[in-house]
Amino acid sequence: MWVGIISLFPEIFGPFLKFGVIGRGRHSGLIKIDFWNPRDFSDDPKGAVDDKPYGGGPGMVMKAQPIFSAIEAAKEERGSDLHVVYLSPQGSPLNQNVLKGFLEKRNILLVCGRYEGIDERLIEHAVDEQISIGDYVLSGGETAAMVVIDGVSRFVPGLLGGETSAHDDSFSDGLLEYPQYTRPVTWAGHSVPDILLSGDHQKIADWRKTESIDRTSKRRPDLLKSRTLTEKERKVLNKNIEMSNE
Ligand code: ADE
Repeated sequence: MWVGIISLFPEIFGPFLKFGVIGRGRHSGLIKIDFWNPRDFSDDPKGAVDDKPYGGGPGMVMKAQPIFSAIEAAKEERGSDLHVVYLSPQGSPLNQNVLKGFLEKRNILLVCGRYEGIDERLIEHAVDEQISIGDYVLSGGETAAMVVIDGVSRFVPGLLGGETSAHDDSFSDGLLEYPQYTRPVTWAGHSVPDILLSGDHQKIADWRKTESIDRTSKRRPDLLKSRTLTEKERKVLNKNIEMSNE
């Protein structure tokens, strides 16, 4: 997986790219990350990368030209079919499926905005997809880009300890993940559910599935609307609905 980043502040990514799954991935060559800074591409005599908005209003807007030239430089190095993603609160919501789509593209270029955003013409002419990480406004796209890189890395084959871990994660089958426990068996007077100590793999798998549906129906009922449930899953759900009506 290759991820290019266009950012005025590449230093923000420093420690984030050194540790954990991403650090290991970069070390082993499974993930490669490169940066382009629009400041290096400005054709303005003073090197400006932003300017006042036409029509007035507060703040500054990022100029189209330095970002466009940075995208062109990235394409020259990595090929013209790079998938260009602009992180913006106006984008489509990020989820596990979008991340899997990025993995399939293999080469994505993340454009991070700052200030009041980017000149709309750049978005129209050079961006393939706009992605939002939630209904709130951040002061720049860099934190959103980190979220994308972290999420997509978990799908890179060979990167997580257990090959199947990413597929057990919350949302991977449209449900929240089941609860996890580790030693000791009893902590602060609370014990691990007996079934997890039983060694019966089928029963454990059934219990986990039940817990997943249970949590999803209580915490994120919206997720269940876009997923067809099996007979067994439906029974658990109906039981929860009955209990909440009591
Ligand atoms: N840039 C600013 N806010 C953002 C958000 N919510 N998602 C993605 N990029 C952003």
